[in-house]
Amino acid sequence: MADNKPQNNKANQTLGEMLTERGVSRRSFLKFASYTASIMALPATAATAIADGLAKARRQSVIWLSFQECTGCTESITRASAPSIEDLIFDFISLDYHHTLQNASGHAAEAAREQAMEENAGDYLVVVDGSIPLANDGYSTIAGISNRQMFEETVANAKAIIAVGSCATFGGIPGANPNPTGAVAVSGLTDKPVINISGCPPIPEAMTGTIAYLLSFADIPELDHLGRPKAFFGEAIHDRCYRRPFYEKGMFAKSFDDEGARQGWCLYEVGCKGPVTYNACATLKWNGGVSFPIQSGHGCLGCSEPGFWDMGGFYKPLSTPTGDALKYAAGAAVAGAAIGAASAISVRSKRDKVMKAAAAAATTPAEETE
Ligand code: SF4
Ligand code: F3S
Repeated sequence: MADNKPQNNKANQTLGEMLTERGVSRRSFLKFASYTASIMALPATAATAIADGLAKARRQSVIWLSFQECTGCTESITRASAPSIEDLIFDFISLDYHHTLQNASGHAAEAAREQAMEENAGDYLVVVDGSIPLANDGYSTIAGISNRQMFEETVANAKAIIAVGSCATFGGIPGANPNPTGAVAVSGLTDKPVINISGCPPIPEAMTGTIAYLLSFADIPELDHLGRPKAFFGEAIHDRCYRRPFYEKGMFAKSFDDEGARQGWCLYEVGCKGPVTYNACATLKWNGGVSFPIQSGHGCLGCSEPGFWDMGGFYKPLSTPTGDALKYAAGAAVAGAAIGAASAISVRSKRDKVMKAAAAAATTPAEETE
């Protein structure tokens, strides 16, 4: 992976200048932008706006903090097909701190984080995976610094925060009952807006696509009531599941080895949480669109929803939820309605802004560089 800082003489270069210097044509850049627009469910005209936005942007400093996590989110983002992690790291962002991907270690790694914060004050992006333990500062430390302290000092001058994975977004597995470390989600520790990209782990393109959107439009994408980009979390797995026709006909697998399971029938009765889980697994899938849990024969666990670990049993059908699941469902419905109403206006105005940018870009003739 790249060293921790870009060359000084390159620091002020725009991404467009950098890509031209590398021989990347306007056409291939537009192709990349079109795919990014399509996975974010933006109109085709937004591709030009994305390309223009990225071309004018400067390489974005990103500090990635990993707290109580399993490294699954990093493992996932390295499998992104478009924009790939290589696209992001080598072309669009300067990954100035990341425990797993950086070259530096020990004091040099911490120095890189401090240098990035100082040189890009007010303009760097913080990505967090993992929950933060509050029960005892000593439960999780990095370089002798507690997770809480590192988070607070790093986000103080950040431009935006992206929480990736269900641990950073909702507390996840560390926060499951009985939550021995007092694990909390990132959004509980800051007043700054947090973009949540949930999932255990999140879909790689949801992470890289969101970063590409932030760079292109210098704004956050339209979010749902849980702070997640609607482009990836706007529909339930069940809405797009290819097994849905079997659900509609009442054809359900009763066990994982019966004839129904062999025939690819609906997994509702063996515990699929697809009807109450919002994520893009059924459309974007995983490993560059190869498959997703339901296609592999297992019901959705609901891993992108708050409290999924405590929802009452992965193999219990939704129609017979336990007390905990009922409590969660009722709480989520009330909170969702309240927050959803409050965010509706800002969501609408953001969408209008994007559409305006897309329309403006569409009327500007694209400048061919090849
Ligand atoms: Fe819905 Fe799950 Fe059945 Fe797919 S397998 S149709 S998501 S209940
Ligand atoms: Fe998670 Fe369900 Fe997708 S378990 S990976 S949200 S299919």
